[in-house]
Amino acid sequence: MLQTVAVPAAHAPARSRSAASAHQRSPVIDALRAFGANGTVPFSTPGHKLGAGLDRDLHDLLGSRFCASDVWLNTADHDRTVRQAENLAAQTWGAERSFFLVNGSSSGNQAFLLATVAPGDEVVVARDLHQSLLAAFILTGARPIYVAPRLHPSLQLGLGMAAEDVAATLDAHPAAKLVVVTSPTYWGVASNLREIAIEAHTRGVAVYVDEAWGPHFGFHPGLPPSAMSSGADGAVTSPHKLLTGLSQAALLNVRGPRVSPARVANTVKLTQTTSPLMPILASLDACRRQMALHGEEMLERTIQLAGGARAALGRLPGIDVLDASRLGLPPEQYDPTRLVIDVQGRGLSGYLAETLLRERFGIAPEMSDTAGIVCLVTVSDTPETVQRLIRAVASLPHRSGSAAVSACPRVAGEAIAPGQQALTPREAYFARTRAVPLARAAGEIAAEAVIPYPPGIPVLTPGEIISDVKLNCLREGLASGMHIRGAADSTLETVRVVSGL
Ligand SMILES: Cc1ncc(COP(=O)(O)O)c(C=O)c1O
Repeated sequence: MLQTVAVPAAHAPARSRSAASAHQRSPVIDALRAFGANGTVPFSTPGHKLGAGLDRDLHDLLGSRFCASDVWLNTADHDRTVRQAENLAAQTWGAERSFFLVNGSSSGNQAFLLATVAPGDEVVVARDLHQSLLAAFILTGARPIYVAPRLHPSLQLGLGMAAEDVAATLDAHPAAKLVVVTSPTYWGVASNLREIAIEAHTRGVAVYVDEAWGPHFGFHPGLPPSAMSSGADGAVTSPHKLLTGLSQAALLNVRGPRVSPARVANTVKLTQTTSPLMPILASLDACRRQMALHGEEMLERTIQLAGGARAALGRLPGIDVLDASRLGLPPEQYDPTRLVIDVQGRGLSGYLAETLLRERFGIAPEMSDTAGIVCLVTVSDTPETVQRLIRAVASLPHRSGSAAVSACPRVAGEAIAPGQQALTPREAYFARTRAVPLARAAGEIAAEAVIPYPPGIPVLTPGEIISDVKLNCLREGLASGMHIRGAADSTLETVRVVSGL
């Protein structure tokens, strides 16, 4: 379990016996068990009625127990049970209040901004924001003041948001209402959140962290400190990404005097489905129990496994694996469980390496870009799974001379430099638009987001003036296998630009 709310600390203190026994419980699982044990006959949603009406193939695929746990308790029982489970999660993640989310961290980003900023408010935000934060800007009408993450000069990889840059931007925008940081990044780089929080708080500004990729932070001294323990006022995190939540399971954590939990509670309700899949909520509760009782030992194994894999992969010819020292970062700013594997030394693009790994070796990386692939080692991995990854990467072919030198090897490098912002995302999103061929788009105002997926970080954001550099990055990425979301024309033959307000 992480620190208690009263005494923020980076890592778990010894817990009292009564606190430990509270964490043995799982209110959501208990409620689902009770529903089943009572033989309740539902005349309520969902209509498949404990799986009875489900298509047989789907029923077989999911299993009868899973189908029977997709039930609706009733509003009072549901709210009481989830609140109990959220309170245990708040203790575990070091928050004052935690909210269970069934629409992923995406919905937490939207809920938090809807709770804290209004149309026209300035928000200082790291430009490596996820598409869900961009959606939050469109929904709220807030004005992003983009800060470029520091870039590693040769690796073209974001090194996080620098506290000095936050301070300077806040000084230039004294009316700013919120600082938003994405930490860690998809590539495992954490910002120095403590320093950022100090700079923001001394200026009276709250800090929100998109910690989707850091649900495990703070549970082990070998991992970066968590957002909550670093003084952030709010943070969203995705236990489904790196712990054991089912897909979509996420947590929104808040603490301190700068954010109203009651207002966040309202916007969480606004942004969630009213028909949550109970197994998602149960998985959050169960994940909390695992982390509260065994988090540190589970993560110790994970860090060891990932460390062994990093060393073995790094010895392979033509393969390079990032770590904190290669990036010039202190260890507490890098997630050692993330394997960012550069395959350019094999004459391959990351996109091609991913295809080969999937098709020839049955290995599914998290993502790829021009330079390489990203693989996640989690609490669920074993020496065997990690060995399979190492053997598969070792077997990737060498292609001499086939990899051209890339101008934008990483989608979170040059490709996401903050462009000149002519309109807010909301103004551009609701403007009159027209489609222009990509080749003729330079100088126009983007009306839509152009988002390589994964990682879901927009290259073009609505409202920015399209630059030649970004068009080149997009062309190069498309040629080597990048997938685009956000744009109406995902082939990017055309892009939608603003034609009038
Ligand atoms: C930085 C970041 N924030 C938020 C999200 C959204 O998380 P979720 O998939 O849980 O909605 C992602 C997804 O990849 C992400 O990379």
